[in-house]
Amino acid sequence: MEVKVEKSRPEKFPCELLLLFSFEFPEALAGPIQNVDLEWKGFISTLMKQGDFKGELFECRLCYTQGVLPAKRVVLTGLGKRGEFDLEKWRGAASKAGQFIRNSGIKQFAFQIESFDGFSEEEFTESFVIGLLLGVYQFNEFKTLEREKIRAIEELILLGEKDEKTKRIGNGLKTGQIISEAVCLARDLVNGPSNEVTPSVLAEKARQIAKDQSMEIQVVEVSQAEAMGMGAFVAVAKGSQEPGKFIILEYNKGKGLDTIALVGKGITFDSGGISLKPSENMDRMKEDMSGAAAVLATLEAASKLQLPLHLVGLLPATENLPSGKAYKPGDILKTLSGQTVEVISTDAEGRLILSDALTYSLRYQPKAIIDLATLTGACVVALGDYTIGLFGNDESLLKRIEEASARTREKVWRMPLWEEYFEYLKSDVADFKNVGTRAAGAIIGGIFLSKFIEKTPWAHLDIAGPASIEKERPYIPRGGTGVGVRLLLQLLKDWQKDRISNVKAQSSNEI
Ligand code: BES
Ligand code: ZN
Ligand code: ZN
Repeated sequence: MEVKVEKSRPEKFPCELLLLFSFEFPEALAGPIQNVDLEWKGFISTLMKQGDFKGELFECRLCYTQGVLPAKRVVLTGLGKRGEFDLEKWRGAASKAGQFIRNSGIKQFAFQIESFDGFSEEEFTESFVIGLLLGVYQFNEFKTLEREKIRAIEELILLGEKDEKTKRIGNGLKTGQIISEAVCLARDLVNGPSNEVTPSVLAEKARQIAKDQSMEIQVVEVSQAEAMGMGAFVAVAKGSQEPGKFIILEYNKGKGLDTIALVGKGITFDSGGISLKPSENMDRMKEDMSGAAAVLATLEAASKLQLPLHLVGLLPATENLPSGKAYKPGDILKTLSGQTVEVISTDAEGRLILSDALTYSLRYQPKAIIDLATLTGACVVALGDYTIGLFGNDESLLKRIEEASARTREKVWRMPLWEEYFEYLKSDVADFKNVGTRAAGAIIGGIFLSKFIEKTPWAHLDIAGPASIEKERPYIPRGGTGVGVRLLLQLLKDWQKDRISNVKAQSSNEI
């Protein structure tokens, strides 16, 4: 969808369709909808008074203007109760309006951005664009039949009245587009089947992004990884015919900026390996690279947004398959950290490939390490598919993540990493095992990872639940969600702001 900004007013603007929002009746019409209503001889107020459009949350109604307005049609969308409005409802309303317009077969619409309730035009536009573009996302790449029936909106015109205002709208639009494109890239990679999205394809995608964004990239092959001592990553990779790739991306290298390492689990298909999973729902294990997809997409967007940070993205990518060369239960692996791990289940492969990536990330002496992984079914049992399991060793990093979560509404919930849980991983023959008990499975996964962190501030996000959903939500269609991308980008956008305000607070204390 092409989106542009124009200096005009909705009641004066000729277009296929004009989109207007209203709070629930009897709240008075305000802003653009009020001006259009006046020009339209009270048509909208009459509809509302008669109860034909109530303004309930996400209610949509199509009307024909029959030449009274320059716009051919109007879509009215409800924002619900005035007192319950927030940016999450706004994103949802933008999405629902977009889906309604698309499903009506209309290809162009206009809309005037008018912020209220103290929201800036920038953030209001950004949230609108995010809600809309994420809501109309479709994954049609592999559908060959009846392609002509696929509908898509081709153009949106954002209207603003004054030059300064259109400039602010333009800024919000740009940020919103960059963030939405990143989420959609992550969704595409997650929805893509594992025969298409192989580790090599992920590496190629990363190469292309690195080239376009002038980032550094290194793709470590399995043989090199072996020579480097990544015994855990190599063990998982060697069971598959598809070559594993350990992808390293760097944005803003060597500029003296704060370093943050982002690590994403990139299992492009998790069969469980020799500890084979049951076949029911195994197809969903193409989603086991959702962490890697989110990290890759975040790096691309961070570069487009020119965030003043040094970001390192580490994406250990491999399949987890059984074969004559596959690693086996009982094997003892030597990890890059030097610690040894007894394999109890080859299905707990995520923590193995992540352990080497986490150790590797320490080379960059990052200010923080954040890993994203579809790590445990236990986390799905604990939190369902709405919520990311949040683990970590640093209160201030966890708080920052919770703040980013509150703003983006990508929900996180804190889980403990008490040392007592390490008891479950004690091994008779190696430093520790890769599996403990079924009970506390998500925590034990986190405890395992913590053994590779040393003292660096670190957060582990278990996204096994929300990485994909069965039932659509206001701006998240069924399937891969791209979860984590908006959360990470919000965290990274606010990182410098927080630092600057901390420095200011400190220096004012000193005075
Ligand atoms: N990829 C799975 C976790 C998963 C499960 C993600 C369901 C998304 C939905 C992971 O590799 C795995 O198999 N974990 C095991 C760990 C167990 C063997 C300790 C699990 O959760 O059963
Ligand atoms: Zn597994
Ligand atoms: Zn897995």
